[in-house]
Amino acid sequence: MEITPIKPIGIEIAQKWEQLRAILEFIDENDVELFIELGVWKGGIASLLTARTLLVPNFWYIGVDVNGMLYLNEHVMTFINSSPKANIILANVFDMETQMDLYRIIHTHNKVFLFCDNGDKPKEIRTYAPYLKSGDFIAVHDYNTEIFDEDLKYLFDLGYIELYPIMYRFGCNLPIFKKK
Ligand SMILES: C[S@@+](CC[C@H](N)C(=O)[O-])C[C@H]1O[C@@H](n2cnc3c(N)ncnc32)[C@H](O)[C@@H]1O
Repeated sequence: MEITPIKPIGIEIAQKWEQLRAILEFIDENDVELFIELGVWKGGIASLLTARTLLVPNFWYIGVDVNGMLYLNEHVMTFINSSPKANIILANVFDMETQMDLYRIIHTHNKVFLFCDNGDKPKEIRTYAPYLKSGDFIAVHDYNTEIFDEDLKYLFDLGYIELYPIMYRFGCNLPIFKKK
């Protein structure tokens, strides 16, 4: 991980401040209803967005991490587990059972934002992009280091459009796409 983690509320997040700002602002401006984070790590984003689930009526958070027990401390787990609209699934995102669980969850919400940030971003995009619905969003971290234009072409074939103003805002280089 090349990025120096940031700590907005004491729990590390493996994003730059600009990337976190773009994510938070995007959720707010686009009335995202459900944020799914593939790769939770220490739960910095999970904690912030769990707080949002408690404060904003129409907002839910789901995180998935195969190593959750290793990275997530007990305070983060307790906070998230005691919040009715937030959940961490301890599982491999590529297991078929996880895929089917997330497919069902995606189809019970409008305006889903799927954030791909685990160990194999191209595979995550290929696996999950077909599951999203019209009006949902997909974004991927580590653009141009772990995921490249070549991998993202697939999204255009599936009918996604790239949201350039968001992608380049604050120079954060975080590609975000919307399914038409
Ligand atoms: C870069 S970190 C995530 C950073 C986090 N999104 C943040 O912004 O702070 C990647 C995480 O993906 C998890 N991971 C890697 N492969 C996975 C898989 N196949 N399924 C689920 N989680 C996975 C790792 O355990 C690690 O916690």
